Amino acid sequence: MNVIANVVPTLTDDRRAGLPSWTYFNQELLEVEKQELFRKCWQLACHVSDVPMPGDYQCFDIVGERAIIVRGKDDKVRAFHNVCRHRGSRVVAEQKGRCKSAIVCPFHGWSFNLDGTLRAVPQAKTFPKLDPVQHGLVPLEFEIWHGFVFVRFIKSDQPSVATLMAAQEGLIRHYRLEDVKPYTGVKCQDLPVNWKAVRDVDNEGYHVPVAHPALNDLYGSHYFDFAVRFGVSRSEGQFNEGQSRYWSVKNYKKVLPPMKHLPEELQKTWFYYGLFPNLVLMLYPDLIGFYQEYPVAIDKTVQRFAYYALDDDRREVRASRYLARRIDEITGAEDTQLIIWSWESMQSSGFKGMILSDLEAGVRNYHDALRQVLPVTSLDRQPSEGTVATLNASLRQATPNPWRTD
Ligand code: FES
Ligand SMILES: [Fe+2]
Repeated sequence: MNVIANVVPTLTDDRRAGLPSWTYFNQELLEVEKQELFRKCWQLACHVSDVPMPGDYQCFDIVGERAIIVRGKDDKVRAFHNVCRHRGSRVVAEQKGRCKSAIVCPFHGWSFNLDGTLRAVPQAKTFPKLDPVQHGLVPLEFEIWHGFVFVRFIKSDQPSVATLMAAQEGLIRHYRLEDVKPYTGVKCQDLPVNWKAVRDVDNEGYHVPVAHPALNDLYGSHYFDFAVRFGVSRSEGQFNEGQSRYWSVKNYKKVLPPMKHLPEELQKTWFYYGLFPNLVLMLYPDLIGFYQEYPVAIDKTVQRFAYYALDDDRREVRASRYLARRIDEITGAEDTQLIIWSWESMQSSGFKGMILSDLEAGVRNYHDALRQVLPVTSLDRQPSEGTVATLNASLRQATPNPWRTD
């Protein structure tokens, strides 16, 4: 069975430029991005195993929105706005935790059942009659795909995650994503850059041989990027044959045992799926993970990430997972520096734009996707103040719906 075959993209010479630099520091565009990309596209909030017991919750804050994912007494996982129906407080203060049998708002003590309905209100006689459903937590659109909980703050034309990923099911189903458990928990780090600078560095593997010596040692000879469909990309690195030079890589390849749940061709490959606009899902033989970034300000981005794993207490698997994380940490630190330099260049009078290699087609494809959803980013010159949102809306009306053109 060949689950890995696909088409390697190439670029024509008129498609080797990047986005104009104004798009990286325009405040009005940032607000449009928050609305059109981050609120209207599926966002991975957590895995169902992050909330294993009734009352367990995981929060997810992004671009001014707040989500709470909570498991009910009926064992169902649900998503709500983390916004109290009384005066809008967060209904839980922590990012993660367990409520006993109700969610109790820390402001005035309104309590909600684990299915979101309003349960009790202190001094209830001081209010008119309140309806448990109407005054319950506001439900959030969500989709559980292979155990991962995606939320969407505003409905849009973006198809379901299952539809977007359907063509990859043959590969993905082997990883038993429904059964994984938290390996690290969800973590966040701040980056002092525009969020698109993170994507630009992440969307190509041309820099791997020079910037990531350890990763290159792991799979540099067999690394490929693929465009799957609009909004979905896949990258894969099959391990290099022969001896590796780096301690972590050499030992990772040595200790990683055969994983029974995977066919032969997936035993020695790391896969990365990119889901527009800001998610990367990592499928390694021994570890599963995701990372996503979202803007806080023009020059401040949060990167959120987590690793998951199947139950496997073999010593060699514990060692391989440690080493895989170690390789990722080394790579992550190297990327952080490149991301900062990329962002700085956007503000430099000496930066004359990008010239992309065929090996950077992932950057161009991603920029093309941005141009389709945010056509105002096609303009070389910054629009005059106060016009970005309206200009984008009118250009969008003249642009085919990218989610429907596949
Ligand atoms: S804001 Fe939640 S109880 Fe008042
Ligand atoms: Fe990188």
